[in-house]
Amino acid sequence: MNNQSELRQRLTSQWGDGACLTEAIDRAPFETDFRKLFHGEALAILQPNSVTELQSMVRFASDHRLVMVPAGGNTSYCGGAAPDKSGNNLIISLKRLNKIRSKDPLGYTLTAEAGCTLASVQEAAESVERYFPLALGSQGSCQLGGNLSTNAGGTSVLRYGMMRDLVLGLEVVLPDGRLLNQLNGLRKDNTGFDVKQWFIGAEGTLGIISAATLKLFTKPTQYSTAMIGVAHIGAAVDLLSRLREYFGDVIESFEFLPESATELARQHLKLRDPFETSPPPARVLLECAQPRAWPELPERLAHVLMKLIESGLVLDVAMANSDRERDHFWSIRERIPEAQTLEGASIKHDISLPIGQLATFVSEAARVVQATIPGARIINYGHVGDGNLHYNLSPPCGTTKGSDTERQFLANQSAITRTIHDLVASLGGSFSAEHGIGQLKVKELERYEDPVALELMKKLKVAIDPLNLMNSGKVVK
Ligand code: MLT
Ligand code: ZN
Repeated sequence: MNNQSELRQRLTSQWGDGACLTEAIDRAPFETDFRKLFHGEALAILQPNSVTELQSMVRFASDHRLVMVPAGGNTSYCGGAAPDKSGNNLIISLKRLNKIRSKDPLGYTLTAEAGCTLASVQEAAESVERYFPLALGSQGSCQLGGNLSTNAGGTSVLRYGMMRDLVLGLEVVLPDGRLLNQLNGLRKDNTGFDVKQWFIGAEGTLGIISAATLKLFTKPTQYSTAMIGVAHIGAAVDLLSRLREYFGDVIESFEFLPESATELARQHLKLRDPFETSPPPARVLLECAQPRAWPELPERLAHVLMKLIESGLVLDVAMANSDRERDHFWSIRERIPEAQTLEGASIKHDISLPIGQLATFVSEAARVVQATIPGARIINYGHVGDGNLHYNLSPPCGTTKGSDTERQFLANQSAITRTIHDLVASLGGSFSAEHGIGQLKVKELERYEDPVALELMKKLKVAIDPLNLMNSGKVVK
């Protein structure tokens, strides 16, 4: 019997009952990432039922020098939860650790386990008349542990910040099986280094997050949601600045959608478009969350937008008049990635820039894209309020799957990504705004990160995980 089958037998005898899966058919969904860029082979899938069981699994892995790959909802864009090809990685799925441990509406906090889906965390907050604001297209399947490990962003960062801003406490299983318990809900706690922050955004390379205490907020009484036509991204940035002067913090989302993106949604998803008859060159999806004390917000917003039409900054406005219409506007936005996938091959970039540099970036990047791949379509949508663009490319119109044009398009991927990321760096931006590093962007981190910061990251990794067993090969090598 080889080492692999012997280990599989030992794992199964120790954790039967669904807590350990070794058959190829059960491993398969965990061995390929969401975008199908990475394919590996795992030794087994472990699914702990409790934190104590998770600790004993981690101890087993550590004793046998096995690499552990923590897995959430498998929605990473960077292969953060895919195993390597060695056949020796243990995937540790957190999905059974899915309890809401406590809700504290008075203190505006909630403690949840890592395997809870983001949607179930939002629902738990709502059940006590509170609000958890992290919002992502994948919220029905992505899990809290993954959101924490990748420091997820999404569509309400403008008002509430990223995942790390929403965390008060964390519980983490360390690479040797010890439990770090920092699950307090204190708003003020200046007791030395903020250790929990080391694990947020570390993508499971320092330990496995098992639970978190999260900040909750006041539940908005209602939303004012509008699609706003604009001429270009520069106008969108000006519009945000004007609207913030009027409405300040009630602006929760400000998403940018060029016509190249909405056109794909109309074409592939048959989504009705409020601007169907004469779509503007670009649009913004604006959402304001209404506090109880400001019932006249929708009227004020409509009034200000009309004034901005008169000034020429805004080209057209469609306000959502019902919850159904609001959901519809959001599905146009949230289903753009799906529409682009249906269109065929794509090259993706998840970049951020100082908001004042977005227009310069977009015009300069368009020039280099056309010089490198003539006819390539630029589908650059995203969270403009946070300076974050998903600067994605599709091959020229009419390209068919498997054609030479598609092959040529994809052959240019590394060259174009290098140029785009260099341009982003020269304008003071980041090559990874919200999707993390995973295995996809390890070399980019080496190239663009401040060398002192990179050295500190590597030192921290060695200090906490000296055997390099936690999700090794991801983030820092
Ligand atoms: C989004 O904002 O839709 C995702 O983060 C990015 C994407 O799917 O391209
Ligand atoms: Zn995004």
